Amino acid sequence: MYASETDWRAVDGYFAGLLVAEDEALAAARQSGRQTTMPAAEVAPNQGKLLALLCQLAGAVRVLEFGTLAGYSTIWLARAAGPDGHVTTLELEEHNAAIARSNLERAGVTHLVDLIVGPAVDSARKLIAQDAEPYDLVFIDADKPSNPAYLQASLALTHAGSMIVIDNVVRDGAVIDPGSPDRRVQGVRAVVEDIAGDPRLEATALQTVGIKGWDGFLIIRRTS
Ligand code: DHB
Ligand code: MG
Repeated sequence: MYASETDWRAVDGYFAGLLVAEDEALAAARQSGRQTTMPAAEVAPNQGKLLALLCQLAGAVRVLEFGTLAGYSTIWLARAAGPDGHVTTLELEEHNAAIARSNLERAGVTHLVDLIVGPAVDSARKLIAQDAEPYDLVFIDADKPSNPAYLQASLALTHAGSMIVIDNVVRDGAVIDPGSPDRRVQGVRAVVEDIAGDPRLEATALQTVGIKGWDGFLIIRRTS
């Protein structure tokens, strides 16, 4: 017997209820995601906590995020990076950035975050041109067709030992369809092939189910 989406939600709720404390600022950020151009696309609470734990377990203090939306994952990452940490987060839409700014303020992390508005590939290119200090952790969670470009930019902005996490790599299972007409699926498949062919990168991918349905995270360690 297969578990239904109702079951996945209930199990997410069970674990989150015991393990994932979302304070008022995180809850408000998640709610306000509905007002963005990508309603309810932010990571689930248990996934936000996973990002925070990965950040802390890796000892990451400099974090780069592609795709801010309402700043929900940004808050998790900024808090995890800690008072000496820094998050640079890249957002295409000023409409979303305005929502994120008020969420970051409410969460008390504004001083830890640089929110850069514009196409993320351009923003990343500027960071590269400015010789930005390398990042320890990168979270790629923006428009999926650009995943390969975001990975390439990340490789110019990280160091041996950095971690890169990519969201939404399963896409309801469509990732295995080479003929998918969905550009988001092709963006995932292209980046998976780039990772597989890059000797500097070690990676794995995990399918997730829960309040966001059937999707997944890809986790990369840059070895050199
Ligand atoms: C999509 C993007 C996301 O970042 C997400 O978490 C869910 C869906 C999308 O492009 O469909
Ligand atoms: Mg996502």
